[in-house]
Amino acid sequence: MAKVQQSTHPAYDAVARTLHWLTVLLIAMQFVIGWTMPDIHKGTQPVGLIAWHLGVGSTLIAVMVIRVVWRLTHWPTPDELPPLLSVVSRITHFLLYAALVAVPLLGWINASSRGWTVRLLGLVPYPALSETGSDFGHEMGDVHGVLAWVLFALIALHVAAALFHRFVLKDHVLQRMLPHAGPSNDSPRNQ
Ligand code: HEM
Ligand code: HEM
Repeated sequence: MAKVQQSTHPAYDAVARTLHWLTVLLIAMQFVIGWTMPDIHKGTQPVGLIAWHLGVGSTLIAVMVIRVVWRLTHWPTPDELPPLLSVVSRITHFLLYAALVAVPLLGWINASSRGWTVRLLGLVPYPALSETGSDFGHEMGDVHGVLAWVLFALIALHVAAALFHRFVLKDHVLQRMLPHAGPSNDSPRNQ
């Protein structure tokens, strides 16, 4: 009962695709806010853009928890790439996941060390991950800033690869993360 050619069908289910594009939106916001918000010193209050960074960040943490659980329980259709490319792609995806977990976690640790409570949607408080004023929390803030650049580089590589597949190799890798783009059987306009 094959319905559509596998290669033109999204390999990721609707939940995985929604989580992917929601993450893209939240990460883009975090970079813009993180790089434009004022410098933080001892005694800085988490208001304005800093409050936005924590608010969007708390949402991202929740989304990443759901995403990792979903990924471990719902495997996408295997890709059809040559073995070497497939391995490189899987390693990049793994590193992306690692950075997507590590960067927010380090930001959260740093926020705790500043005595700031991270709240989901400004309401539900997350536990503190380090003691107020701790050196560890302070240092993790520096690592957070550096790892954000690593994440940025991984994303640049990832997006370049997606576009390379789409416009140079002209294969169906991009469609794996998009809604079904093949001949539609649910469009009533096709007369
Ligand atoms: C992937 C998501 C995130 C990205 C891309 C990101 C990016 C950034 C960037 C670029 C900076 C400025 C670093 C610098 O100027 O050196 C920053 C600072 C900061 N971020 Fe994030 N951030 C993310 C998630 C979070 C989360 C989830 C939290 C907390 C819940 C958080 C809390 C902070 C704090 C407290 C600082 C100030 C660190 C310091 O100056 O010591 N970030 N972030
Ligand atoms: C913030 C930016 C982005 C992040 C953090 C990100 C992260 C990820 C991750 C972690 C995966 C692996 C999914 C899994 O195995 O569960 C993935 C897959 C994918 N992403 Fe992204 N992505 C970003 C932006 C984009 C953009 C802009 C595009 C398109 C131009 C894109 C296209 C894809 C495609 C096509 C796949 C599936 C690849 C395959 O399975 O062969 N991503 N992305």
